[in-house]
Amino acid sequence: MKYTHHNNELNKNHIGKTVFLKGWAAKVRNLGGLIFIDLRDRFGITQLLIKPGNAFYEVALKVRNEFVLEAKGVVIERESKNSTISTGEIEVEVIELNILSIAENPPIIIANETDALEDTRLKYRYLDLRRPVMQNFMIKRHEITQAIRSVLVEEGFYEMETPILGKSTPEGARDYLVPSRLYPGHFYALPQSPQIYKQLFMVAGFEKYFQIARCFRDEDLRADRQPEFTQVDIEASFVDMNDVQEIVEKVLVKTFKKVLNVDVKAPFLKMTFQESMEKYGNDKPDMRYEMLIEDYTEYFKTIDLPLFYGKNQVRGIILEQGLVTRKRMDQLQELVKKNHGEALATIKYSEGQYTGSIVKYLNETELKGLYLKEGNTLFLVPGQFEQVSSALSALRIELANEFKLIPENEFKFLWVTDWPLLEYSEEEARFYAKHHPFTAPVDPEVLKNNPKDAMAKAYDVVLNGYEIGGGSIRIHNQDVQKLMFDTLGLTKKDIEERFGFFVDALKYGTPPHGGLALGLDRVVMLMTNTQNIKDVVAFPKTQSAKDTMMQAPSTVDSVQLEELEIKVGK
Ligand code: AMO
Repeated sequence: MKYTHHNNELNKNHIGKTVFLKGWAAKVRNLGGLIFIDLRDRFGITQLLIKPGNAFYEVALKVRNEFVLEAKGVVIERESKNSTISTGEIEVEVIELNILSIAENPPIIIANETDALEDTRLKYRYLDLRRPVMQNFMIKRHEITQAIRSVLVEEGFYEMETPILGKSTPEGARDYLVPSRLYPGHFYALPQSPQIYKQLFMVAGFEKYFQIARCFRDEDLRADRQPEFTQVDIEASFVDMNDVQEIVEKVLVKTFKKVLNVDVKAPFLKMTFQESMEKYGNDKPDMRYEMLIEDYTEYFKTIDLPLFYGKNQVRGIILEQGLVTRKRMDQLQELVKKNHGEALATIKYSEGQYTGSIVKYLNETELKGLYLKEGNTLFLVPGQFEQVSSALSALRIELANEFKLIPENEFKFLWVTDWPLLEYSEEEARFYAKHHPFTAPVDPEVLKNNPKDAMAKAYDVVLNGYEIGGGSIRIHNQDVQKLMFDTLGLTKKDIEERFGFFVDALKYGTPPHGGLALGLDRVVMLMTNTQNIKDVVAFPKTQSAKDTMMQAPSTVDSVQLEELEIKVGK
């Protein structure tokens, strides 16, 4: 029996029609002998009615939640209508009912609302995914992926695959390694991104490439990070930064229109990395609300305040309205310290009175000079630029959430531009690539003579406080690439062993090229309005990188280890 309708489709217009339906029993009720079954599929719910005397009444009595059923019946008008579902005006009086599959009582409730713990949900992910809200996440993910793919294909990009078993690519995280059986002691690395391969596609002359690519990074997990995740990886030849940004804007604008019917304005706003750090304290600012960081260093220079003695700078934010209790203030202090801030000082102005931790050090004129308005609280953090930025960034986000300053259903895109090429680690006395070592410097001479000041042809695309993509124009000259590796402290031997093939490739006619990768999971997460990346990944890992359903990672049998010549220590 093939079904004639999905379970969201029937309405008053179908009354009198004979239909076939399939699905899961979402709810079974026996009301004075009348049996009602809510039949659910991925589209919706239809109510089945089985009256006493029906030839299939005995079958209906056996039905429990999550049984798989097929039903033939006639559409009739419902007595008590349900306006919350599309089929709420009708029900289907059953003529034939078959149980296709029985089900044990599921360990989680199959409904949008669930009180199941995350571990249980992940262990029984196939049941979790049966919940309508989760189905919606997955279906939206499909729609978003298809929309992105179709824009890129329309724009002349070729979808091409690259290996999973490869060699380490330096994106800055730890690699996942796969031991080789044929070459004991040798390992493949799973790609942190297809960066090198996509550049080699450019050397090969494909000009426009994209891939919905799986990437693997062994790094500390957060709410917006998974150890394996998906990128929309893009690369093109003969492009400059604007060209790449334009294509990415096109992809995002069209995808938002197609999937959410939301109009996004392009070109997106642009902000330099430096300005972003100064005003928002981080490199992925949430532009949906203000509360910008202001510099008070000069202001406090003439004020005798021990907390600020000898501090490089004092910056702060103003919470315009809102009551911060004593206890809450202690928690905010903790938050500031956790985020590398040395201290948190406050001044509040309310009903003509100044209160707060440092008020006693300021005279009337000095307090007035801060121009605080009624209800304002000024939060100040002293210290070095990076530490102050980090602390105020965390504080700004915390306060914005607490006092509900973030408008919902708004999408604020931003390009963060003008990145430093390198980052210097004082501890290790060496440079790191801020993006990756294939990013082109704005001026190779500066890289050579004054690496600390070298700027990159790099850009990140940010949405609502999340980095959703990063990219750059690449180095396409062998000498500059060598210089970059040199600056990063790689020896000739390192370069030869790790990237010899790549430096070689650059000498056979490499077109200027550049690209970007979008974090698809993050894009889907933001488009479906959830804050947890796991919601939009079908089978995600836990915070501690486990697959609790499959029980991975797991030990393997000794024969496998012997074949690989691997000994496992304690
Ligand atoms: P990058 O490392 O910035 O660039 O990664 C691109 C985008 O991928 C997403 N992302 C992640 N999403 C979920 N979990 C993770 N662990 C994770 N790590 C990164 C982010 C990020 O913006 N090869 C370069 C791209 C290029 O230069 O073209 C790269 O991988 O949204």
